[in-house]
Amino acid sequence: MSGSIRDREAILREDYDAVGVAKNYSGARWTETQHARRTHRIEHAWAKRFLRWAGPLGIILDLPCGTGRFSRLLQTHAPKLLQVDQSEAMLGQMSGPRAQGAISRIPLANDSVDLAFCFRLLHHFPESVQRKEALSELARVSRRWVIASYFDRSCFQAWRHRVRGRKSNRFPQSRKTFQDEAELAGLRVVREGFIARGISEQVVVLLEKMECSDGVFKPFVQTETSSVEKRTLSNGQSHFVKRYDFPKPLRRLEAAFRHTWRSPSRAEREFLNLQKMRELGISVVQPIDWWERRDSFGFVRESWLATEAVEAPDLDTYLQAGNQPSTAYFHALVESVRAISQAGILYRGLRARNVLVTDNGPVWLDPAKASFQQNPQSVALTNEKEFREEIRRLGLD
Ligand SMILES: C[S@@+](CC[C@H](N)C(=O)[O-])C[C@H]1O[C@@H](n2cnc3c(N)ncnc32)[C@H](O)[C@@H]1O
Repeated sequence: MSGSIRDREAILREDYDAVGVAKNYSGARWTETQHARRTHRIEHAWAKRFLRWAGPLGIILDLPCGTGRFSRLLQTHAPKLLQVDQSEAMLGQMSGPRAQGAISRIPLANDSVDLAFCFRLLHHFPESVQRKEALSELARVSRRWVIASYFDRSCFQAWRHRVRGRKSNRFPQSRKTFQDEAELAGLRVVREGFIARGISEQVVVLLEKMECSDGVFKPFVQTETSSVEKRTLSNGQSHFVKRYDFPKPLRRLEAAFRHTWRSPSRAEREFLNLQKMRELGISVVQPIDWWERRDSFGFVRESWLATEAVEAPDLDTYLQAGNQPSTAYFHALVESVRAISQAGILYRGLRARNVLVTDNGPVWLDPAKASFQQNPQSVALTNEKEFREEIRRLGLD
């Protein structure tokens, strides 16, 4: 078998351009049997989960797009979708913008998409060097994320093929080999999804680039259960993504008693509160999106909230750096606390670390614990007590 990816590509092009193959792929292939329909459904579920996990996206590349099996799903996760495949016949079976191109030389510049989606291709490459080349190309064009699938050799399906000695053009590999190859291509495995663990060969993976030239991956806030980082998408948009993660059961249990069990996650609560406050004319950061994943008991495993990126220090940091807020800022701050109370919002977090010092005045953030109450008078008393204590602590009274 030839070691060159180009030679292998030529064989695959012939295979997929052969009469009837593309038509069958877009028609019967994924609908004919119950098994195929189930696989198709589970593949979509994993892809959807990983797309959400990755956070807001600007541009997605689907390569190979085949006959557009994932087009609809991918379109709902990014405003722009690029679809590329090397087979003219396969592309001929789908509609919408698409381009012909091979994975060995993706016709895109470095870091030009936010996520590269590569489903059901890697198992067609028998040689490690070919898979590494393919993964390196995906890593080159993506700013950060890759979703790929490969065939795992340590499962019943692969074992049965080996025992039967059936010749096939699908080449399973071990999970370790896949991880090593991904690493050599500059990618690390973040999440794995199985169609049927131990039985079916297909594994879906979310990969993340290990290095990024402009350093957007480094969180500027990192605690045991949360991190905040600035993301700049390939379309130039920037925002902050706050991620809450409860990997340990004890932390999940503890968080459950505070806010997450069977009630909205922190990310959802924060998103909805920010939205409502903006509607009421309160100066808070603009929320963009949120997402959560729960375990089967209803505990939140992870969630994230994306907001606009306001590049300004919080009041605490501002004061600690030896700055004094202007009188106009201070008046606006007092006014904003009054407006919050008048709107009947019990903020539960009127702290200097939760308000930004911007050229346009104070901008509040982190209202995850805020609640909307009926009685503005009692709300005002609690808010003002909290705010006064904070002012005293800061020595601004
Ligand atoms: C099994 S289909 C998968 C299509 C789609 N990703 C899906 O899951 O429905 C494999 C696709 O890979 C394409 N392909 C094979 N080798 C390729 C290469 N080197 N570069 C780009 N596309 C390739 C084929 O033309 C075919 O459309």
